[in-house]
Amino acid sequence: MKRGIIITIDGPSGVGKGTVARAIAKRLGLTYLDTGAMYRAFALLVQRSFINVDDEKELTELLLETHISLESDSDYNIKIILNKEDVTDKIRTPEISSLSSDLATKKVVRNTLKGMQRRLGQKGNIVAEGRDMGTYVFPDADFKFYLDAALNERARRRWRQLEESGIKESLDRVKKEVENRDKQDRERAESPLHPAPNAVIIDTINLTIEEVIEKILKIIGGV
Ligand code: DC
Repeated sequence: MKRGIIITIDGPSGVGKGTVARAIAKRLGLTYLDTGAMYRAFALLVQRSFINVDDEKELTELLLETHISLESDSDYNIKIILNKEDVTDKIRTPEISSLSSDLATKKVVRNTLKGMQRRLGQKGNIVAEGRDMGTYVFPDADFKFYLDAALNERARRRWRQLEESGIKESLDRVKKEVENRDKQDRERAESPLHPAPNAVIIDTINLTIEEVIEKILKIIGGV
């Protein structure tokens, strides 16, 4: 049986991928797959379990006990469920951002989450958002997009997002965090962040979120 459509949206931190992917999924009636949330949920479990993150055996054992699901209501608000617990609000802290990026360098973590992501996407009809969707997880996707923007702008966007969710941080600290995470996500050996050769690259610096969404919908065209 032919699978449904797969659209991938990749890019660095703070570029607005989440908002764009959710809106595209909503407009086209597809499932929104927030893969960053999966790395974050696993990071929360690691933070609580005090394991040694450099010990592959301990990581493997914890991964075996990890069940992550993404639930969406009719308005596409996503709930992240980690082993039956709703962790949606707990995974957005700066500490979890940084730990999820550290864990995302580990082969065993990536392989396990990649497996979960492929299972979730096997029937298609998804908008998959993350760092390696078009390159490594869904290389045969129908439409691939890579969103980008200069560091200063992404730091400002992330800072605003944190403010809106009640997390107070200085802009400088947010910028440093985004910069460190960028470097680590781009330079890691395992599925580093880079655009797929056949991805449409969109520089979002002078575009509103609505304009980015319209641009993508126009490219997808008759879908
Ligand atoms: O998109 P996000 O900020 O929620 O992602 C958190 C971290 O998870 C990010 O710094 C790197 C990692 N990640 C990844 O390596 N691959 C993905 N597909 C999604 C996220």
